[in-house]
Amino acid sequence: MCGIFCYLNYLTPKTKKYILETLLNGLKRLEYRGYDSAGLAVDLCSGDVKQTVIVRERGKVAALEDLVRLNKELNMNEMCTNHCGIAHTRWATHGEPAPRNSHPHRSDANNTFVVIHNGIVTNYMDIKKFLMSKGYSDFESETDTEVVAKLALYIYNEQPSITFQKLVETLIEMVDGAFAFLFKSSKFPDEVIATRRGSPLLVAIKSRMEMMTEYFPILYSSDINAQSRKVAQSGDMPSGVALNGHVPPPSAVPSTTASVEAGEFKLGGMEPVEYFFASDASAVIEHTNKVIYLEDGDIAHVDNAGGLRIVRTKKKHANEKEFRYITELQLSLEQIMKGEYGTYMEKEIFEQPESVVNTMRGRINFETGQVKLGGLVEYLDDIKRSRRLIMIACGTSYHSALATRQILEELSQLPVMVELASDFLDRNTPIFRDDVCFFISQSGETADSLMALRYCKKRGALCVGVTNTVGSSISRETSCGIHINAGPEIGVASTKAYTSQIISLIMFALLISADRISMHERRKEIIRELKTLPGKIQKVLDLRESLQELAMKYYKEKSILVMGRGYNYATCLEGALKIKEITYMHSEGIMSGELKHGPLALVEPTMPIIMVAVKDSVYVKCQNALEQVTSRGGWPIVICDEDDTVLESIVEKNRKSKQEGAPITVKVPKTVDCLAGILTVIPFQLLSLYIAVANERNVDCPRNLAKSVTVE
Ligand code: AGP
Repeated sequence: MCGIFCYLNYLTPKTKKYILETLLNGLKRLEYRGYDSAGLAVDLCSGDVKQTVIVRERGKVAALEDLVRLNKELNMNEMCTNHCGIAHTRWATHGEPAPRNSHPHRSDANNTFVVIHNGIVTNYMDIKKFLMSKGYSDFESETDTEVVAKLALYIYNEQPSITFQKLVETLIEMVDGAFAFLFKSSKFPDEVIATRRGSPLLVAIKSRMEMMTEYFPILYSSDINAQSRKVAQSGDMPSGVALNGHVPPPSAVPSTTASVEAGEFKLGGMEPVEYFFASDASAVIEHTNKVIYLEDGDIAHVDNAGGLRIVRTKKKHANEKEFRYITELQLSLEQIMKGEYGTYMEKEIFEQPESVVNTMRGRINFETGQVKLGGLVEYLDDIKRSRRLIMIACGTSYHSALATRQILEELSQLPVMVELASDFLDRNTPIFRDDVCFFISQSGETADSLMALRYCKKRGALCVGVTNTVGSSISRETSCGIHINAGPEIGVASTKAYTSQIISLIMFALLISADRISMHERRKEIIRELKTLPGKIQKVLDLRESLQELAMKYYKEKSILVMGRGYNYATCLEGALKIKEITYMHSEGIMSGELKHGPLALVEPTMPIIMVAVKDSVYVKCQNALEQVTSRGGWPIVICDEDDTVLESIVEKNRKSKQEGAPITVKVPKTVDCLAGILTVIPFQLLSLYIAVANERNVDCPRNLAKSVTVE
C-alpha cells in the first residue's frame, strides 16, 4: 500500500512547475495503491541554502494539486538545475487520513530530514520512547513513519560528519518491520536515498548516455551493522534501537568501496541525468523504460554529483547476486491509460477477450494440442514427482485457485490444496521438501503471499509464482513461474487478472498431463474450448445492457446472495467480493450444497439472490437448490447456459405478479466445465460496476482498499 515517487533532475534545468507536475503525475499513476491523502516535498532553488517545502492534503492527488497551486511559497517559474522532489500517496495504517498524518514526514520544523514510507515500522513505539528520552518530543502525527524522520535527525546530530548513506545504513538497522523509504535532507541537498525491506521500490534512469550493460553492480559497505548491534547489546535500548546515543565514528567503519563512476558504469557524475524512484513501473514509463528493481536490503543513493550507486551493508550469503539487472520495460503508456472508458475497471473488464489471448499467446498450439510454459520447463519433472500441489493466495487470486483446483486434481492426479495466505501462516502449516507451492498474485507484492512464499522456501518446497507483474517480489523470489500476461491492471477490483490467472493455471494442468493417454480426450476438449473463449467472452460482454438494467433493479438493495456449487462456487465468492468491494453492499457467496444447513433462513421474496448453474456434473443439484429457494418464496436471477429452458421455467412458475417483466436469467455461451467460471464471473464484474456507478461510488479506488496490499 502507499505509493512512493521521486523525481531528481541533475544538470537538467527544469522549472518548478515542471517538477511539480512530474511529481503529481507520478502520484496519479500510483493512486491505486492508496488514496486517502497525499503529499510532496520540494526545494526552493533560489538562495544559498535550499529550503524544503512540504505540502500535504487529505483526499486524492487532485486535492493536493489544488493546494500546491495555492501555495504562496512556491514560484512556478523558478528554474532548478539540480533538484530532488519526493511525493507520496497514502493508505492509512497508523493515524486517520489527515494532512498531519500524510507523508512526507519531517524531522523538525526546519524540514531537515523528510521521509516517505510504504510499509509498517513495527517497533516505532520503542523508537519514539527512545527519541523522547533524548529530547526529540515534537511529534506532529500518529504515524509510525514520523519516528524515522526524527531518528535520521538524531543520528545526524550525534555525528554531524556522517555521510547520508551511512546515516541511512545505521537507521535501517534500528527499524523493524516492512518498508520502502525515500529520504531527502537539507543537509545533503539534491541527493536522495531509497531503501527497501519487504515493500516494492524501483529506480528508473533517464540519460542521454547509452547503457553499455544490462547489469548494475552492487557495492558492499562496512560491517556497520555488527558494530551498532554490539553497542545496543551493551545498553538497555529497546530491541531494534541500536545506537544508545552513540553513532560509530566513520573512522571505525571501513568506507564504502569505490563509486560506480570509477568503473565503466558511469551514470550521472557531471553528465545530465534524471532519476525516478517509484513503487511501480506504471509511474515512470512515460519518462523512461530503463528500470532497476531494488531488492530487500538495497540502499540506492543518488549523490550530489548525479551519480547512482546501490549499496548493501554486507553479503547475506556467498552466492548472493552482486548486480541488479537494468530492465527494459515493455509497458506502454497507452496500456495504462483509460482510453474511451469511464474507469480503469470498466476498461479492464472489456479488455478480457484480448487479455486471455495474451495469456495463451505462444503457449498453446491449437493445432497440435501442445502446451509450453517457458518459465516451468526446467522444473516440470520435479513438479510431476511432487507429493502435492498447494496454491496459496489472497482475495481474488485465492478464488482463481479455487476455480481451478478441480481440474488440476483431475489432470495432475495429485492432491491439490488451496490456502488463504494469511490463514496458512497463522496455522504454521506443515510443508515438506517434495511439496510444490504456487503463489498466485496479480501484483506479486501482497505481503501475506510473500511471507507464505518465504515460509515455504525455507522448508525446501519448490516455489512457483503466478503473477502479472514482471520484476515483482513474488516473481523474483520464486524458483520458476508463469507470467499471466494480462497487461497492467489499475482498478483496485481485480477483473482481467482473475480470468488470466484461471487460464494460466489451466494451461499448467494441461502441461502436466500432456503425456497421460487417459487424459487425451479431456485435454483436447479443453484446448478446443480455450480457442473459442475470446469470442464467448465477447458475447457475455455484449449482455451489458441487460446487466445495466439488473443493476438498476438492485442498486438500492442492502444485500445480495450469490449461490452455486462445483466449478461455479469460486464464481459465487468472486462475484460477491466484486459486489462488496466496489458497491459497499453486503454480498455473500454461498455454496448451494450448504443451503439447508443455514443460509436458507435468509431466503424470502424480497431478498435479492443470484444463482449460477450451468450444465455440468452438478447441474441437477443446482436445479434442486433452485427449487429449494423458489419454494420458500425466493425469486432468484439465474446465470445459466444459453440453451437452458429448465431453470427458467422453475423460476417462472414461482413468479409473483409484481415481478412480471423483470429478467429471470442471464444466459452465457456454453463451454467446458472448467472454463465456465470465466464466462459466469463476467456478469458479476459488470453488475458490480453498474451498481457502483449508479451509487456514484469511486469504482477504481473503493474506500479503505488499495491495489497492492504490501502490509500484513
Ligand atoms: C480483488 O478485487 C481485490 N482487490 C483483492 O482481493 C486482491 O485480489 C488481493 O488483495 C490479492 O492481491 P494480489 O493478487 O495482487 O496478490
